[in-house]
Amino acid sequence: MSITSKEIRSKYLAFFSQKEHSTIGSASLIPEHDPTVLFTTAGMHPLIPYLMGETHPAGVRLTNVQKCIRTGDIEEVGDRWHLTFFEMLGNWSLGDYFKEEAIAMSYEFLTSEEWLNIPKSKLSVSVFAGDDDAPRDEESARIWRNLGVPGDHIYYYPKSENWWGPAGATGPCGPDTEMFYDTGLQECSPTCEPSCSCGKYVEIWNDVFMEFNKLEDGTYAPLKQKNVDTGMGLERVTAILNGKEEVYTTDLFVPIMDKITELAVYHEDTSKEIICDHMRAATFIIADGVSPSNVDQGYVLRRLIRRSVRHGRKLGITDFFLQDIADIVIAEYGEFYPELEKNRSEIKMEIVNEEEKFEKTLKSGEKQFQKLTKHLKANDIMPGEHAFHLFDTYGFPLEISKELAAEKGIVIDEEGFDEFYLQHQETSRAGAQKRFKGGLADASWETIRGHTATHLLQESLRRVLGEHVLQRGSNITPERVRFDFSHPDKLTDEQVKAVEDMVNEKIQEGLDVHYKIMTVDEAKKMGAIGLFDEKYADRVKVYIIGDFSKEFCGGPHVNNTKEVGKFKILKEKACSAGVRRIKAVVKADTEDE
Ligand code: ALA
Repeated sequence: MSITSKEIRSKYLAFFSQKEHSTIGSASLIPEHDPTVLFTTAGMHPLIPYLMGETHPAGVRLTNVQKCIRTGDIEEVGDRWHLTFFEMLGNWSLGDYFKEEAIAMSYEFLTSEEWLNIPKSKLSVSVFAGDDDAPRDEESARIWRNLGVPGDHIYYYPKSENWWGPAGATGPCGPDTEMFYDTGLQECSPTCEPSCSCGKYVEIWNDVFMEFNKLEDGTYAPLKQKNVDTGMGLERVTAILNGKEEVYTTDLFVPIMDKITELAVYHEDTSKEIICDHMRAATFIIADGVSPSNVDQGYVLRRLIRRSVRHGRKLGITDFFLQDIADIVIAEYGEFYPELEKNRSEIKMEIVNEEEKFEKTLKSGEKQFQKLTKHLKANDIMPGEHAFHLFDTYGFPLEISKELAAEKGIVIDEEGFDEFYLQHQETSRAGAQKRFKGGLADASWETIRGHTATHLLQESLRRVLGEHVLQRGSNITPERVRFDFSHPDKLTDEQVKAVEDMVNEKIQEGLDVHYKIMTVDEAKKMGAIGLFDEKYADRVKVYIIGDFSKEFCGGPHVNNTKEVGKFKILKEKACSAGVRRIKAVVKADTEDE
């Protein structure tokens, strides 16, 4: 049997639209308003406010193909099934259908002749085994049995396997039931089961029954509504339906792999696969507005590009070659993701710039390496601290230090390096934990007030500076509001004050805040602004603040601007070319200055 990835995408959407789901577009890889995760890791992520009970303009049944990044898998890339960038086919019930219908639909799509036509004997499923937080999921097991799945193809696993979410520290989550495909490979042992990672079983789909909200104290409270959140990996399904033993030989990767093979002098599959995965991810990340840097998304992007350069060297490629790979990614995916074609020149420019920077880094790192090892001779040991210094200060990868050390017959104390590395990770993790409070699942009053303040801020900026001002990003925690917007120059003190005063004036006026659901055309006609990226199908939710502001947004917001409190701009600075950043706080009227 052969089926293209394009056919699978359209079959999936067609099946769920037949089951009355609205198709929504893929959200950006960069989460909006959300500091808890760096990237969109699953289709549910942009939907968190709706899983928590906000009204979605496209209804209670949704489906889409969502681009995702999971950096936890970065080290596993090259193992046939794990990727940093992948496309997730998903369907959602926002308080509508639950286990019975969700499982029946999954089984029909997988096994029906009209759809994927997977032989029933090839499928196994797992369900939640139960613990103190939630009961054993006998209901899902019964539904599977009634559909015809034999008892010995149904496995019970604990939270570590059969529970999904929350994406941040708190938020919607619940038990799940997962579907596995038996590749027919020899099992690793007589006790091999779907949870085993030997490669015999491949997880292809996950139906999550999101009915809990994990709270800050670690307990689970029932959500307002019972939701379904499902996710199927397009790359994996394409591979198994075409009888492939890995994702890289599917149509989603072959043209990219071919280009790498054409450029390579030496041939080594793992390096080719790593470049292929990383450059697919990097191309998509840049298209969503990220540049390589030393923090957050920019840092991940930097790692993806630099790791690709290193593996390119292993393949004997000495020229800058990554923009040629990006061209193939754009050619293959542009039809489904127009942002790639639109940003082709930025994508290529960022990649070449980063390759150049990395080359400089390697040169200065190499010099420093020679200095540090001047007095060492064959069989001497380079202390871990020195190797870590090269890594931390010069961005010089350990692998390259090892290569240079090997040339001189020196040995690097890798254990020592690991110790320093772990310490460094601990420090950044502690920082990250501080930073990762808040987020889409954070419906705390402080965050809601900050959110309404950003609408007032955007409109005030437009009135003071002009209509070219548009939101380029926003990030809200209970402690502060961060808002990025397009504007070419630094704001004068007078402009900052005028904007701050206007926001406070609108708060004082006690304007009513409410939303209306309407078509995109109606919204545009009434002059609504906002980040509109096809997320909301053809209907959008517009938040209206008095006669002052109209903006596309998922919510939630306060009901009256008086509830926002006092607004204060702390800082205004450059963020990137043509983009400024404001940091501000809102204080309840009763709080002291
Ligand atoms: N959110 C679920 C997952 O990513 C469907 O597996």
